[in-house]
Amino acid sequence: MTSLKQRAGEAAAALVEPGMVVGLGTGSTAIFAARNIAERLRAGGLRDIVAIATSRATEAAARELGIFLLADDIPREIDITIDGADEVDPSLDLIKGGGGALLREKIVAQASRREVIVVDESKLSPRLGTHWALPVEVLEFGWRSQARFLQSLGAAVIPREVDGVLFRTDQGNMILDSRFGPITDPTALSAKLGARAGIVGHGLFIGIAQDLFVAGADGVRHVRREGPSA
Ligand code: A5P
Repeated sequence: MTSLKQRAGEAAAALVEPGMVVGLGTGSTAIFAARNIAERLRAGGLRDIVAIATSRATEAAARELGIFLLADDIPREIDITIDGADEVDPSLDLIKGGGGALLREKIVAQASRREVIVVDESKLSPRLGTHWALPVEVLEFGWRSQARFLQSLGAAVIPREVDGVLFRTDQGNMILDSRFGPITDPTALSAKLGARAGIVGHGLFIGIAQDLFVAGADGVRHVRREGPSA
């Protein structure tokens, strides 16, 4: 049976056209877009695609799928990026980083003309922070100071571990999962986090997504951001 994640990923992949530079997102939904692109390349319906991966894991998957990858330094403008999200609010602002790839994902998103988000309907949220802790990527140096800073902003903070081992991002940094509860002003929080030395990235994606493909029991809905994006 086709999963909702697959439906969302494949619907978004239909936006990819011959000759495009494509950002490949990270996670269990975005991978369906990558697989669909690879299938169309194999079948000859799509050609001249070059891609940039948002994580080491996606890079490995793209190599296996036979998708040609650009070097890590993003030498060209990216036409479209298709990525997942952990929480999506009604303005198409997001929490990302459940897989720990938030920093590369944001770098690629900000270098993209069109950031397309693919989710199943469980990711929709009235207010960011309602369902998900905000992942904050920090340097190991001084990380307890960042944890106290996040606590002073109202978060319950847990250093991310996987199987009892401290998680490291592709950059070798730590993730502090910061549970704020519903965030009243994500833009203000994003600015505070962005101004703090030692915090190298965070999972608030404000004004970045232009399109959302959300799959539910009734099919896939395509929502576009209203007004100019950031
Ligand atoms: C990776 O760091 C994340 O931002 C993912 O894009 C996000 O967690 C969504 O992943 P799933 O599609 O696997 O739920």
